[in-house]
Amino acid sequence: MAVRIPNTLGLEACTDNWFEYTDSEQLEACLAKAPKPWLPVGAGSNLLFSKPVFEGSVFRCTDTSWEVSRGNGYVRVRVGAGMRWDDFVALCVENGWYGAENLSLIPGDVGAAAVQNIGAYGAEAGSLVSSVEVYDTVAGHPRVFFPDECEYGYRSSVFKKSGKRYFVLKVVFKLSLVPSFSLEYGNLAARIEGEPTLQKVREAVIATRQSKLPDPEVIGSAGSFFMNPVVSKKVFTALQKKYPDMPHYPTATGRGVKLSAGWLIDRSGCKDMSAGDAAVYEKHALILVNRGHACAADIIRLADNIIKKVEETFGVTLKPEVETV
Ligand code: EPU
Repeated sequence: MAVRIPNTLGLEACTDNWFEYTDSEQLEACLAKAPKPWLPVGAGSNLLFSKPVFEGSVFRCTDTSWEVSRGNGYVRVRVGAGMRWDDFVALCVENGWYGAENLSLIPGDVGAAAVQNIGAYGAEAGSLVSSVEVYDTVAGHPRVFFPDECEYGYRSSVFKKSGKRYFVLKVVFKLSLVPSFSLEYGNLAARIEGEPTLQKVREAVIATRQSKLPDPEVIGSAGSFFMNPVVSKKVFTALQKKYPDMPHYPTATGRGVKLSAGWLIDRSGCKDMSAGDAAVYEKHALILVNRGHACAADIIRLADNIIKKVEETFGVTLKPEVETV
């Protein structure tokens, strides 16, 4: 029987081969009878299904368990890949564990967060990771990755680059018991009255996100559709001469300059663009929304038109953050 595949863009997507697992033994049993290609999914908050039927098998980890061990000034929390990311952040905030609060309200599951290295307000999930327990579908056994093997970069990891080879089972996060906040990014500090606390930071992040990002429960979207592009310092200097107010940020490696895709899209006049029921979100140009009955082709056409327009205006090529399958 066809099962609907979860996807926050609200596209029609289903599969005849849907598998749920909580551990590697169950997963192995599923893989043994699953037609290829294999697609692991979380909440589908970063996926664009190009066809209404996915020809192959779709897997979802439903392990939402967690266990904690205490160290000197920190905790390690081992979390099932199927826990909702924001439930994990709420758990950290309730228990006084520092580090995840800036990542409040990001849609998706814990496993996908470790694959995509989700980020917001100056924080990235990858920097909290102590280890990632996966099932290696090529070698046919479980494997543990430590941080120096995860190759974390901006919205990138070894898992993302490996072409669905690794299915995440558990993620172990290391969080601090010592109060420390990062409030510089996105004017978070201005939204907090008095001394910051974990709860206040979480509320400020939630309020900021809700003021400019659509609620996927109400309007279909996949969050930021494009990545913020990195250009060489030479290209940046030339652009800045022409557009002195252009937002820009340093990169983690110090190589090149990161620009704001939202600003580039907005300033190249794409904010009113649409294709069928796919449109640019009026409060944030980086978000493409499904106004109701958009199909994958509408979203792809809109994204292509935006890429073209931004290229013509600024000479910068945007790359989708959302993955098309
Ligand atoms: N801007 C515009 N017009 C717009 C939208 C934005 O001019 O329509 C300008 C803003 O004024 C600001 C700049 O663009 O100067 C950057 O905007 P914002 O602070 O909203 O952040 P962003 O770089 O667009 C990134 C992440 C978001 C994350 C925010 C906050 C990426 C691709 N996106 O967006 O992540 O929530 O920072 O930290 O890195 C996601 O990945 O799905 C996501 C929502």
